[in-house]
Amino acid sequence: MFNVILFGPPGSGKGTQSEKLIAHYGVKHLSTGDLLRSEIAQGTPLGLEAKSVMDKGQLVPDEVVIGMISSALERNPTVPGFLFDGFPRTVAQAEALDKLLALKHTEIGVVLALDVSEEELVGRLLNRGKTSGRSDDTNEEIIRARIIEYKNKTTTVAQYYAQFNKVVHIAGEGSVDEIFESLRIEIDGRK
Ligand code: AP5
Ligand code: MG
Repeated sequence: MFNVILFGPPGSGKGTQSEKLIAHYGVKHLSTGDLLRSEIAQGTPLGLEAKSVMDKGQLVPDEVVIGMISSALERNPTVPGFLFDGFPRTVAQAEALDKLLALKHTEIGVVLALDVSEEELVGRLLNRGKTSGRSDDTNEEIIRARIIEYKNKTTTVAQYYAQFNKVVHIAGEGSVDEIFESLRIEIDGRK
């Protein structure tokens, strides 16, 4: 089993590249953002609680997302690997993930970090907001709040995995296919 974390700020292309990685490697995509939006769409109590936090561009509590990931791992016992997108976002989440994977006798193979400039991120998300229907894309203030939350709470996750030499930085600007090629080379070199 080879497990990958696709890491990067809001709008860096995690979702876009995940689609290509799933098609190519057959891995199971676990996006906490998608799982939370699905809870919101179903109107569950968890979804209602998460929506108010997400609409402010802030992070949902660790125990909520760790619980979702733990159940998703249990539901998928036989996949060739997991692709984590938007998780872990705090060091507490990273430590919890490492423990959950150790229980399954596996670990994170590589953390692929997409580097994109802040102005490019804001431009991409404002543009997507015109059609996505995502309430956290609708105005620049919320988009910038998401980027600040990333800087304050999430960049440390890359430092956490760097101590195990698991982080590779990938230039996240350019064509979608070029970036996918860079990701593929890194994964194939480590599998
Ligand atoms: P989440 O859903 O994870 O959103 P995000 O990290 O803010 O990032 P996005 O999904 O907006 O961007 P992306 O990197 O996937 O880029 P994409 O491919 O879409 O989280 C949402 C919220 O949920 C959080 O704010 C938080 O509240 C909560 N949450 C989720 N996980 C959590 C956790 N673990 N802990 C706590 N809270 C959590 O691309 C963006 C746009 O750019 C698209 O329009 C795309 O077409 C375009 N694009 C992509 N690649 C390129 C390219 N190469 N060139 C030009 N445009 C491109
Ligand atoms: Mg995404």
